[in-house]
Formats: sequence, C-alpha cells, structure tokens
Amino acid sequence: MREKRRAFPVKRPLIDPRQVGWRLGKAGRSGPELWVPFDRTTCVIGPQGSGKTLDLLVPALLGAPGGALVTLTKPEDLFLTLEVRQHDGRPVAVLDPFNLAPGTPELVWDPILGCEDAMLAERRAKAFAAGTVKGATAQSTDQAARFYAGECAKVLQAYLHAAAIAGIGLEDVLTWVSSPRQYPQAEEILRTHPAAEPLWDGLLRGALYGDERTAGNTITTVQQAMALFFQRSIRERCVPSARRPATDLAALIGAGGTIYLLGRDDPYASASPLMTAVTEQILDIAKRLGETSPHGRLCPPFLACLDELPSTAPIPTLSTRMANERALGLSFILAAQTWRQLVLCYGEDEARTIYGLSNNLVVFGGGKDIRFYQELSDLIGSVTTTETRYSSRGNGWFGVPDPSWEQRRVPIVEPAELRRIEQRKALVLSEMYDPIIANLHRCIDGRHGKELLAAQRRARFTARSTTPGTATESQTESPAQTRPRRGLPK
Ligand SMILES: Nc1ncnc2c1ncn2[C@@H]1O[C@H](COP(=O)(O)OP(=O)(O)OP(=O)(O)O)[C@@H](O)[C@H]1O
Ligand SMILES: [Mg+2]
Repeated sequence: MREKRRAFPVKRPLIDPRQVGWRLGKAGRSGPELWVPFDRTTCVIGPQGSGKTLDLLVPALLGAPGGALVTLTKPEDLFLTLEVRQHDGRPVAVLDPFNLAPGTPELVWDPILGCEDAMLAERRAKAFAAGTVKGATAQSTDQAARFYAGECAKVLQAYLHAAAIAGIGLEDVLTWVSSPRQYPQAEEILRTHPAAEPLWDGLLRGALYGDERTAGNTITTVQQAMALFFQRSIRERCVPSARRPATDLAALIGAGGTIYLLGRDDPYASASPLMTAVTEQILDIAKRLGETSPHGRLCPPFLACLDELPSTAPIPTLSTRMANERALGLSFILAAQTWRQLVLCYGEDEARTIYGLSNNLVVFGGGKDIRFYQELSDLIGSVTTTETRYSSRGNGWFGVPDPSWEQRRVPIVEPAELRRIEQRKALVLSEMYDPIIANLHRCIDGRHGKELLAAQRRARFTARSTTPGTATESQTESPAQTRPRRGLPK
C-alpha cells in the first residue's frame, strides 16, 4: 500500500546541532531550543550553587566533540564527566597537585621542557608570575604586585632558559630559587653558554642585585611563583621522572582528549601560578594545531571550559585569545561567581574587555550585587509606556473626568527582578538579539542524569579506593566487581 502523503511536509534540520554547538536550554517554558555554536564565547556569572557547572559548563563539555581543557576546583565535577569524556578510548589527563582525585590518569608536566626557546621561556615565566597576584594584567589596580610580577618573570625566564640549555633539572632550579644570591650558576650559564639568549645574564643580575628592597621583594615573588614545587609530594606528582615521562599534550589534544586542571581555592596553597602556566601552554598548543591544520582551524573545535576562572587559572591572555582564537577553532566558556571577582582578578578594564568579548552572557539570579544587575538592566534597555491620568473638571457629582496621557520610559527588566530569577533559569544576552530568560536543563536530571550520577559514583569510588582507608562507597560496588574492572587479579 502506498504511504499516505503528509498534508504538510515536515521540515528536517539540515544538520545535527550537536555537531556545531552545545545546547543551552529553551527560550521560556515551551519556546525554541537554544544552541550555542562552538565558535561563540560564553561568560557565565552566578552565585555559588546557582547551577553554572551543572546547567551550562558540564553540558557544554559533554557535548564537545573535540579536545577540551577544563579548569575546576571540585573533584565531584571531575568525577561527573570523567567516564563520558573517556568514551571511545579518548585520552584524559588530570593535573592534580593536591591529590584530590587519586587514581585518575595523571598529567605530568615539565616546566623546563622547551625553554631552550627564549620566547617560550619568557611566556612561561610570565604565566607563572601572573598567577602570583590577583590582577596581574596591565590594567590591574594592584600596581606593586604587577611590578613585582614583572621582575619575578625576568628572574624565572632566565632560570628556565639557563636550565633548559644546560640540561639542568627542576631540583637544581629550585635550589637557585631558594637562595638566588648564594647560587649564581644560572647567571654563569647565561653569560658563557653559546645557546644562551644574549643579555639575559644582565637582566637576571639587574633583577637580583638592584635596589636592596626591590630585589628582596622580587626574590620573594619568585619563591611564591614556584612555592608549589617546594612540596616534595606535589613535585613528585606533577613533574616527570625516570618512570613517569611528561604527557604529550599535542598528541592528547590531537586525539580529542580532555585535560583537567584540578586546583584548589585556598589562599595558603594556591595552585594558580602552576595552573596559569599549564593553561597557557595548552592553549598555545591548541592554537598551533589550529594554525597548522589543513582546514585552517581545529576541526572538531577545542573547548576551553574555564570553571571558577578567578580562583583557578587567571590567564592574562584571555581577552586576546577570546578575540582572535575562536577563528582557529578554540571555543571558550568561562564562569565566575560574581562580577566583582572578575574585576579583582583582572582589573576593571580587562574584566570589561572579557565581558564585552563574550558573545553570550548568561547570568543567574540570587546575586546581591545590585550595581551589576542595574548595569544589566540598562543593557537590556527600556520601553515606552503610555500612562493615562484622569483629573476631574467641575464640582461633586457633576464633575467631568478629564484624561491626559503621559509617555514614560520604563526598564524592560528591573534590577530586582534579575535577582529573583528562579533556579534552573537564567538571563541570556546573546550578541544583538533580544534578552531571553532561558529554561536550563540540569545535567543530573532525567534518565541521562541518573547515568551520569552512576558514572560519578564509579569514578569517585575508583579514586577513593586507591587511597588506603578512604573507601567509603563499598555499598555501591563490591571489591569483587571493582578488581576485574580495574584490570586487577581477583
Ligand atoms: N549530586 C547532586 N545531586 C543533587 N543536587 C546536586 C548535586 N550536585 C550538585 N547539586 C546541586 O545543584 C545545584 C547547582 O550546582 P552547581 O555545582 O552547578 O553550582 P555552581 O553554580 O557551579 O556553584 P559553585 O560556584 O559553587 O561551583 C546546587 O544547588 C547543588 O547543591
Ligand atoms: Mg561550579
């Protein structure tokens, strides 16, 4: 029997949106679906627990078809996506200086590798130094911290370059850092080695032996930048040794792998210098792969998912990268809890640049920064309303109502209304389009959410069970089940 012809032809989408973007949610309760193309940048601002990670960053990461870089501070967020990102044998590496997720595939990184190239040594030193201060970029309000970050970078670039050309390891560099005036080998190498960058010995000498107070503060800043490596356990975990070679980052990104940088929001033991340096290198590698790709860009695109940006990796190059690198197939989604955090981290002007360069701004309710909400309300704009007023002409019962009309501009959304945006909803300001209150999908809801939570439990159990005495999930999976799964004898 011939199939009955449809009265209305069904319009099928020409492409699967999952191939070109990630799903943000729905416009309103029943409106059209909202998808963000991978070549658009997104800035997410919302207070703690509002849903930045579960409603936006995790869905974007899970949907990303290519490689990804993820910065985060909560191991739970890592466990949630680890299994899915390892699907199809895609590689994963976790830089975990504080051992928060033991048992996950490690990222081993050599800070000296490649620093024979003076340009690379300078970039790496500047990234390490930038992590020592909140607001290390040019527009920062903290002038003194910025000055010493610059001086610190001079010393570090000289040390990294000297170590690389002379084949010296990190342990010796740390000896120089611990007491720069007592160990002047780096200066000697830079003065005499044929491969040394000319004049760098003078730069080093100037930074270490200039004005007594300035030099003292510079040395302290250098020590802060490398502080994490002075912990032996952290050094052994992150830095290559004879048994643990450095991770091949280019191969990992090329294979569509995921790199997690698991930091900690702790003012006493900040991983920011290390995280910033590693992030810069990964983004540089992704950029180079994009430039040398036969398609002229990374295909599929590379997603930089910068969760908790101000406390993990406040990379100074973010605004430049957001402006230029999306054309090379690098996609950015970044999250901060408040606008002020971004300002503290980057300085007012640079924070505004980052905010201005975001194609999509997603803001959750629940915040208390009324000035930020006022600014958003201004950005959304106003409409003209006509008010009718009646006055009475004449006396008592015989008075005649006299209407008059007045036109007023009223904001489309009042600042106070933005604070009251409910959970699982957010304001979306996308490029030149009208503002939308989007309904978001929390990634742990529904059937897929259950699977994701089960994967999270498995990843957590694997991680915890590798640390003696911390296995707490024995009811979830028995050791008899775990050992074969992890390739161990029964
Ligand atoms: N496994 C879970 N089961 C149920 N609810 C959860 C689970 N994990 C998180 N939540 C809840 O989901 C909400 C959103 O969490 P999410 O981690 O996305 O917030 P966030 O905005 O990223 O916060 P933060 O800034 O602290 O990272 C929170 O209120 C949290 O309590
Ligand atoms: Mg979060």
